[in-house]
Amino acid sequence: MKIVIIGGTGHIGTFLVPRLIEAGHEVTIVSRRQSDPYQAHKGWQKVNFVALDRTALEKTGEFGQAIAELASDVVIDLISFHIDSTRQLAEALKGRIKLFMHCGTIWVHGYNVLVPTKESDPRQPIDEYGVQKNAIEHYLLHEVDQFQLPSTVLHPGHIVGPGWTPITPVGNVDQEIYVKLASGQEVLIPNQGLETLHHVHADDVALGFCLALEHKEQAVGESFHLLSERALTWRGYAEFLAEWYGQSANLRFVSFDEFKQTTTPEHAKLSWEHLIHSSNGSIEKARQVLGYHPRYTSLEAIQESLIRLKEQG
Ligand SMILES: NC(=O)c1ccc[n+]([C@@H]2O[C@H](COP(=O)([O-])OP(=O)(O)OC[C@H]3O[C@@H](n4cnc5c(N)ncnc54)[C@H](OP(=O)(O)O)[C@@H]3O)[C@@H](O)[C@H]2O)c1
Repeated sequence: MKIVIIGGTGHIGTFLVPRLIEAGHEVTIVSRRQSDPYQAHKGWQKVNFVALDRTALEKTGEFGQAIAELASDVVIDLISFHIDSTRQLAEALKGRIKLFMHCGTIWVHGYNVLVPTKESDPRQPIDEYGVQKNAIEHYLLHEVDQFQLPSTVLHPGHIVGPGWTPITPVGNVDQEIYVKLASGQEVLIPNQGLETLHHVHADDVALGFCLALEHKEQAVGESFHLLSERALTWRGYAEFLAEWYGQSANLRFVSFDEFKQTTTPEHAKLSWEHLIHSSNGSIEKARQVLGYHPRYTSLEAIQESLIRLKEQG
């Protein structure tokens, strides 16, 4: 099939594009051509690149039409963060493609009530990011005519992979904590460390997209979590890593206010955002409907990423 991926050279695209090429699809990537995939693969030579700046073209109302003119069977939108962006694109694609795939986020759930969270649970998104992604899902699955634009929405957790820093055991991207855990130094953890993070390897996200494409009939009109098998508590994550580094975890539990004083405002903000979301989702629906079986546990995905970070110094 002819597949257009909007934003196909990032975390997800690095794994999704080679999978689609290997499955025999014709892939066109739309990006600004400013960034390269995180790792090489011979499949990239077969990719058709189209340089477009979505932000600029949306302002003039030309983005949707530009994607429609690429005449594909499937459009995978990895980088829509606002309902107006999706609306513009969807309007232009109606009646012209066989499948529209939107990349959402586990943060559409916001405050959890029952865990692991299911796709069908009532939503209480917290921040603008979650609110917009939730609105996009509602629009695509409940407002758009599925005969006009057959759509599916895939919700990844915290994406991990070789080439970038995984969300750490304190919910930010400050690599210092890995050094501390590896050397037995004290690590401050907010509260009792019982909040949760739900990572997923980028290749498992790619797997989920490919399965939704394969099982298009079942996927249309539905959303699916793409996560590792189980979430991690913050303290459990720190303890596992310390053990992996051959140390006993030297953790001290403090209030979030005390923790905040020990890091930068940016890291504290990200920690707080992960703390209040405490992601912990179910993959049962993806497993049953799509046959999704993630290859990596959260820890395996994180370890692979940390090994690569160490190799890169
Ligand atoms: N990261 C996470 O942990 C996480 C978790 C849950 C959900 N998600 C979802 O994952 C999606 C992002 O996927 P990703 O992490 O693979 O993306 P990414 O790594 O940030 O890559 C972004 C891609 O979009 C392109 N791009 C950026 N701005 C553009 C523009 N103005 N016009 C055209 N292309 C543009 C980039 O290439 P150029 O720079 O060359 O343009 C690149 O190909 C989002 O929908 C996000 O909500 C992410």
